[in-house]
Amino acid sequence: MVITYKSAEMKAKIVSHRNNGETIGFVPTMGALHQGHISLIQKSLRENEITVCSIFVNPTQFNNTNDLLNYPRTLKEDLIMLREAGCNNVFVPSEREIYPVPDTRIFDFGELDKSMEGKYRPGHFNGVAQVVSKFFEIVLPDRAYFGEKDFQQLAIIKAMTKMLKFRTDIVPCPIIREKDGLAMSSRNKLLSPEHRKSASLISKSLFDALNNKDLPVAELKFRVINTIHADKNLKVEYFEIVDFDSLKLLNHWADSSKPMACIAVFAGQVRLIDNVRFF
Ligand code: PAJ
Repeated sequence: MVITYKSAEMKAKIVSHRNNGETIGFVPTMGALHQGHISLIQKSLRENEITVCSIFVNPTQFNNTNDLLNYPRTLKEDLIMLREAGCNNVFVPSEREIYPVPDTRIFDFGELDKSMEGKYRPGHFNGVAQVVSKFFEIVLPDRAYFGEKDFQQLAIIKAMTKMLKFRTDIVPCPIIREKDGLAMSSRNKLLSPEHRKSASLISKSLFDALNNKDLPVAELKFRVINTIHADKNLKVEYFEIVDFDSLKLLNHWADSSKPMACIAVFAGQVRLIDNVRFF
């Protein structure tokens, strides 16, 4: 497994792989890796000759300084996991490598970033688009792998790829869950044992919602939020039913053939997101 720290070196290695006719799969991460990340790596390894995983906690996508400072950093363990998974290349740039000068670009994603994560984390998706576009310029991937856990991020990345005319296929990957249903997340490491136990109610309520699609949207939302708030450790930030393609908020099931539910919940100080499809 080759570890690269400098953008210019990473780019040179990629160019040489490309000249050998090898295809490049790319998995961007912020580290604190778990099986969710590894499932993306495994898919990329199956579909490409070269798989590059980046580990970079991107400051421009954090709208809250404490969240950035508290973000788990476990580089040593991450590298062991990547080696065991058979990843060929890891890119671990410093902040200066990615942002030699401040990135002042402002992306216009229209309606895509006006609700949910975009609404509650202003500037977050602009930062995600900045960093992922910078990585795409360095790694020049044929395919890039993103988890459906961050469903709105996936939509933003697809839009950014089209906007900037990258020739990269964006490959969505299913959510990997813990045994009790909790969506795997680097932030789960920050939960106290008590909050970790409570957090399983998030996915349980979403699965329960799947069995209650006969209820009107407003009633279903009320039911899910109430179920979660029955646990004093949990506070729902939003729970929305949206259209899978446009991410428009739905008030009636009839308004979409592909409805899905997206949720953000605070378990103590730790913010967790999840989603399920109703089709
Ligand atoms: P991070 O949260 O580290 O996630 C990296 C990738 O792993 C994302 O595509 C995310 O959706 C995926 N992922 C996380 N948990 C998952 C799970 N339980 N199942 C499946 N996939 C999962 O998302 C980011 O980093 C950053 O915003 C990034 C794209 C790297 C830009 O900085």
